[in-house]
Amino acid sequence: MKLSRLGERLSATTGTLELMRDLGEALDADEPPIMLGGGNPASIPAVEDVFRRRLMALTQQPETLARVAGVYDGPRGDTVFHEAIARLLCETFGWPISAANVAITNGSQNAFFYLFTLFGGTYADGGFKRIFLPLTPEYIGYGDIGVEEGMFVAGRPRIELLPDGLFKYRLNLSGTKVPDDIGAICVSRPTNPTGNVLTGDELAQLAAIAKARDVPLIIDNAYGTPFPDIIYSDASPVFADNTVVVMSLSKLGIPGLRTGIVIADENVIRALAAVNALFALAPNSIGPALALELVQSGEIVAIGKNHIRPFYEQRAHLALAWLRAGLDGYPCHIHKPEGAFFLWLWCEGLPVDSADLYRRLKARGVVVVPGHYFFPGMTDDWPHRRECLRISYAQDEKLLRRGLEIIAEEVVGAYERGRN
Ligand SMILES: Cc1ncc(COP(=O)(O)O)c(C=O)c1O
Repeated sequence: MKLSRLGERLSATTGTLELMRDLGEALDADEPPIMLGGGNPASIPAVEDVFRRRLMALTQQPETLARVAGVYDGPRGDTVFHEAIARLLCETFGWPISAANVAITNGSQNAFFYLFTLFGGTYADGGFKRIFLPLTPEYIGYGDIGVEEGMFVAGRPRIELLPDGLFKYRLNLSGTKVPDDIGAICVSRPTNPTGNVLTGDELAQLAAIAKARDVPLIIDNAYGTPFPDIIYSDASPVFADNTVVVMSLSKLGIPGLRTGIVIADENVIRALAAVNALFALAPNSIGPALALELVQSGEIVAIGKNHIRPFYEQRAHLALAWLRAGLDGYPCHIHKPEGAFFLWLWCEGLPVDSADLYRRLKARGVVVVPGHYFFPGMTDDWPHRRECLRISYAQDEKLLRRGLEIIAEEVVGAYERGRN
């Protein structure tokens, strides 16, 4: 059986596939590995209770359940949910939006496929436009999506070394010429994999470039405010005519319910609804139904502030201390954790490739994600790309500590073998 060219490309082994396969295998394994790889959120009892209560309430309302599970929504999703989201964002940030600026997708991953396909690739005039990722390393999941090849172009960041073995990537637009052929700019904020939070100034710079080029600035808010609010600094997203903000219910603790939320100009929302109809007929309605009352009452914001953010912030401190302790004396740097739930470890001058390190760790029962997957659109041979690992700190605390010890042992072992 032969596949089309596109079929071959989409079904090839990508970083995203490797990551999701590792997650699936860990679920099925008799002796599961220490899973510090994928993007699964933590189990936070107080949050799980909220969703359990909401689910039970839903099952006890036969009419609502029939409305939610028994019919297709329109291609943009449930209108009542759109209204609730628009009201929440107006109240939280003062955004001038209405329900017409909101669309639901089957997870935000799905929204990125749609958006990159809408704005990247061949245009009617024959020109080709790429998606600009100005601060790479960037989210692994952007890497291979899109119908056409060569869809991404990346900006190499400036590295700022900080005290205590920390560092921070900074936007480096003076050094990186913004390419002429861009159809959209996209950033995750907080950034997956690094936990970076672009400053307000950096965001304003990007918004100005997007405006001048008449292209959208897509802000991936999967970990951002007002929910799930896994962000340890003050940061509010901006919204203007050309901004597209993509949110998700996954990192609140319900990734299985596949709910992405896009806030954008009405024309973008209409285009997304059309693509939703083609690819999915309608988006999933259980996620929005479960979250509706939480959005209407504002409880969704309180859950983030009172439970989710403090949980991850405390975890970040612990994980940082444990990892640092094991790497003391070696040229390893950790990105300042400002949000999301990953440590991004940079082992400067590492004598082995991060992919080798990943394999050695997997053989010892610890799954991480090798750093080279997080540089979509970067074509130059920057050694930094092979010197990093992404480590999730969302999982069980004891396992996390043991996993970090094993990671440190393997990193130290690699440096020592390189010396001999
Ligand atoms: C930065 C970022 N964006 C988007 C997604 C996609 O999430 P979902 O499709 O579950 O909404 C993820 C998932 O890990 C992510 O980390």
